[in-house]
Amino acid sequence: VWAGVPQAPPDGILGITEAFKADGDSRKLNLGVGAYRTEEGQPLVLSAVRQAEQRLVADGSRNKEYQPMGGDATFCQLSRRLAFGAECPASAAGRIATVQTLSGTGALRVGAEFLKKHYAVKVVYLPDPTWANHGNIFGNAAGLELRKYRYFDSQTRGLDYQGLLSDLGAAPEGAVVVLHACAHNPTGVDPTPEQWQGILRVVQQRRLLPFFDSAYQGFASGDLDKDAAALRMFTSAGLELLLAQSYAKNMGLYGERVGAISVVSHCADAAKRVHSQLCAVVRPMYSSPPIHGAAIVVKVLSDPQLFGLWRQELAGMSRRIQAMRTALKQALIEVRCPGNWDHITAQIGMFSYTGLTKAQCQNMTNKWHVYMTMDGRISMAGLSGARARYMAEAIKDSVLS
Ligand code: LMR
Repeated sequence: VWAGVPQAPPDGILGITEAFKADGDSRKLNLGVGAYRTEEGQPLVLSAVRQAEQRLVADGSRNKEYQPMGGDATFCQLSRRLAFGAECPASAAGRIATVQTLSGTGALRVGAEFLKKHYAVKVVYLPDPTWANHGNIFGNAAGLELRKYRYFDSQTRGLDYQGLLSDLGAAPEGAVVVLHACAHNPTGVDPTPEQWQGILRVVQQRRLLPFFDSAYQGFASGDLDKDAAALRMFTSAGLELLLAQSYAKNMGLYGERVGAISVVSHCADAAKRVHSQLCAVVRPMYSSPPIHGAAIVVKVLSDPQLFGLWRQELAGMSRRIQAMRTALKQALIEVRCPGNWDHITAQIGMFSYTGLTKAQCQNMTNKWHVYMTMDGRISMAGLSGARARYMAEAIKDSVLS
């Protein structure tokens, strides 16, 4: 009966890790997936997370019962506070419905399904370019109509601010607009605070529904509050909006799949009903979320010592990524690689959008065993000081070939 089932194409991001694992060359480098690595190229479990886990294991009173459909209420409340801030009036008024999800992807997926069922305008604007999975989630899976808004200017390698304003200004009233809260993936280009004000104005004028994707809070600047500034700006303006949160990168909980979806409503009563409908989306999909990752997050966010330690470690990861940007740019200058590489240090977050063409990316992988996405994105978090020179030589060879 499955004779007609075609082979699914490899995933543009996760498929790269498979190819990397299959490569036997000792010089290989995986800059494909956005996952933090130490200077030694190893995955990192944060000390704050280790300590939280030890305390969880030591606590013999914990059981393995099902969670409610919406997950752990304390986790949801702490996640809301982390994103919207301790002083958020919408949160204090009970206007934000939050549900624990399977990381950021699960948050987007539940949010998209909720929109499909309960929101009249079925058009979603995605930045061009955006994280490849956004299209799968909002388009293929939820069946919403996808449109692009201009975001990256390949000439300046910065934000196409005028293009963005004009595309969103022409959007149908009420359309959903996906905004990367910080550390735009894949470009590493974020709007300035003034530009965010301009985006807010057009969102208000067109009555658009913002859907923030926050996968890097604390990673972009090393400061949790600064990286939430755009979300808080929009919430303070009184807008109804959605927020997808992930703890994959900022707490290093990739495989634990822990995140949250929040929906801001105009009143507490609506928020209660929205919460019930988010749960109704969850029930037929996976019934209820897992316990362990959320329990770690609760410990880290609620214990002042662990929270302080986490912030230090977060700042440390962010600093190492920044140092890799500087090291790579320096190495490119040293090997006399043609072109201007200022954007490597100007961009922020986990990724650098190198500007390499698809053919150049293929050369990086086929000849130099450097694994990266074919749009020219590299995960800076996967690079080490020791490999910066090798990487620069690979880029130079690819640019010249
Ligand atoms: C990435 O963009 O590399 C990460 O967000 C991992 C993923 O799931 O794609």
